[in-house]
Amino acid sequence: MTKDFQGKVAIVTGGGAGIGRATAVLLAERGATVVVADLHAQTSTEAVAEITAAGGVAMAIVGDLSDQTVVDNLVSETVDTFGGVDVLINNAGIMDDMSGPHEVSDALWERVLRVNLSAPFLLTRAVVPHMLSRGHGAIVNVTSEAGLRGSAAGTAYTVSKHGLIGLTRSGAVIYRDKGIRVNAVAPGGVTTSLEVNVKGDAMGLAVIGGYNANVGRIAAATELAEVIVFLASDAASNVNGAVVPVDNGWSAV
Ligand SMILES: NC(=O)c1ccc[n+]([C@@H]2O[C@H](COP(=O)([O-])OP(=O)(O)OC[C@H]3O[C@@H](n4cnc5c(N)ncnc54)[C@H](O)[C@@H]3O)[C@@H](O)[C@H]2O)c1
Repeated sequence: MTKDFQGKVAIVTGGGAGIGRATAVLLAERGATVVVADLHAQTSTEAVAEITAAGGVAMAIVGDLSDQTVVDNLVSETVDTFGGVDVLINNAGIMDDMSGPHEVSDALWERVLRVNLSAPFLLTRAVVPHMLSRGHGAIVNVTSEAGLRGSAAGTAYTVSKHGLIGLTRSGAVIYRDKGIRVNAVAPGGVTTSLEVNVKGDAMGLAVIGGYNANVGRIAAATELAEVIVFLASDAASNVNGAVVPVDNGWSAV
């Protein structure tokens, strides 16, 4: 495996499970020092153990990334321990309950927007000064099919993922001459433990499929990781502001 991330430090949010875990493992295999940032201590520790058992270097930082103090601690611990930050993968996210605008509670709206949109903003704001001081950096935001269309989730999730594309494009333009690239992937259906609460249905895709028959094949998390890591790599040196669907063609239908 090419060690093209050797010497680079990467923060992966939601790195304890699903797409984030697969991305953290792949970045470490490619030589990156990885900081697994996640809400859950057990899965974060397991991810770090998986990476170190394979000969990689990783550290877990546990906390709710919608909290500014957790974000500040994550970035300062990373810089103090490893000397800087080269890559930020804003992956942590939560699903909504598929409710429409007239049904969304204040609590659901605030939580989903806080985790899926404000946290990536807080992370970006905290990390970019360190990237600017190094003269390079790559940020990859994990949005969703729900960032591209209105039929892939409920209102709160859809708005949060559309907003994350705005954060991606804004950063791409503002830092384009400063060596920092900001891109996004838009996953379709992926086999993970994404926390869904779909009105009694165990899996959100069953409901999504009810009004969108074009979902297509459900991907493995590793298929997302490959594209995320490409966008974070120097091989994507002229890719900036892109939103790449990784969705078996769902967005092409
Ligand atoms: N699975 C899918 O079908 C799918 C489709 C489109 C987009 N996505 C997006 O992919 C990303 C990863 O989701 P996944 O499918 O791997 O789900 P997952 O639930 O398996 O993993 C999400 C991880 O994020 C962590 N997390 C959640 N809230 C957090 C918080 N406040 N602070 C820190 N960590 C937090 C969780 O603990 C978990 O480890 C999400 O942004 C999700 O919206 C997933």
